[in-house]
Amino acid sequence: MINIDQKQFPRSSVFIGELESLNDRFIVAQIKTMLNNFGDEYVTFLEKVLFLANTSKVSPVDSILDYTTVFLREQVRFQQTDSYSHESFDEVYDEVYNNPDVMEGFYLDGLLLTQACWEIHYHIHRFFCNHFLPRCKGKAQGLEIGFGHGLYLYEILQQCQNKGWARCVIYGLDISEYSLKYATRLLKQSFSEDLFILKIGDIQNELNFPEQSMEFGLMAEVIEHIHSPDQALLRMRHCLKSDSPLYVVTPMNSNAVDHITNFQSIDEIEKLIISTGFVLETKEVFSVKQFQPESKDRTETLCAVFRAL
Ligand SMILES: C[S@@+](CC[C@H](N)C(=O)[O-])C[C@H]1O[C@@H](n2cnc3c(N)ncnc32)[C@H](O)[C@@H]1O
Repeated sequence: MINIDQKQFPRSSVFIGELESLNDRFIVAQIKTMLNNFGDEYVTFLEKVLFLANTSKVSPVDSILDYTTVFLREQVRFQQTDSYSHESFDEVYDEVYNNPDVMEGFYLDGLLLTQACWEIHYHIHRFFCNHFLPRCKGKAQGLEIGFGHGLYLYEILQQCQNKGWARCVIYGLDISEYSLKYATRLLKQSFSEDLFILKIGDIQNELNFPEQSMEFGLMAEVIEHIHSPDQALLRMRHCLKSDSPLYVVTPMNSNAVDHITNFQSIDEIEKLIISTGFVLETKEVFSVKQFQPESKDRTETLCAVFRAL
């Protein structure tokens, strides 16, 4: 049994207790490792994520288990077929982004919770906090494409507030009306509505922000969801001022209900981003195997900060 301070971390205690009572091994084993490796830093983050997920109608335990089950099913399918389940963006739009049973049923909540329940996602989040957040200091406005649940936008606003940085307004574009609703609710819990401007839109069609208007950009877990990642990156580049940091996370060999582009190598991804007008500042590559050596999962994820030329 995992023991944590109930008074200090009430939501985490209940959440972990429920997972243990269901005899879940997959998530509980990862939580145990993260607790051992990161202690209070980890459980403070879990508590924050559970607080942010509290506006959802679905219980966090159901969301993380459903999200994980669907994800693992897609990965087994990839091991058998070596191809992603979907090729067509329109198909994914109908089945996932425009489907409340998926988006509000488990997708948005589940994906948010993976940041604190899957080791690989927790490490990606730590990379973001250590390498991207400090680069947002003093910036007046920035943009995230595919904000989903809105956690990254939350972290930026919280950092500006806690550290007394300059006032920063964040813009977000996402194709799903359900992401818009979810992230708006999440951000409204803590921040005034004039600090975030979220819109529905498709990065594959247009990005209506003036040239060189943004001082940082985020494209986390989004370029693998579209047909022409290069065009999306060029649109983002157009909006960014020179020297602005761009945070990119993208996996390869990672089947999901909404992934349509599989890259052949991490090198290919880096070269693609560089060819659209960026230089690489810093990166880490995380694989599922490094956290679960017995796993057959071949996912590798590039997590990087680029700088606009
Ligand atoms: C996997 S989620 C990523 C959420 C968050 N950025 C993260 O890293 O956890 C992908 C998000 O991209 C959005 N998305 C997918 N295709 C898009 C497109 N063509 N234009 C804008 N947003 C898109 C989806 O609606 C979803 O919210």
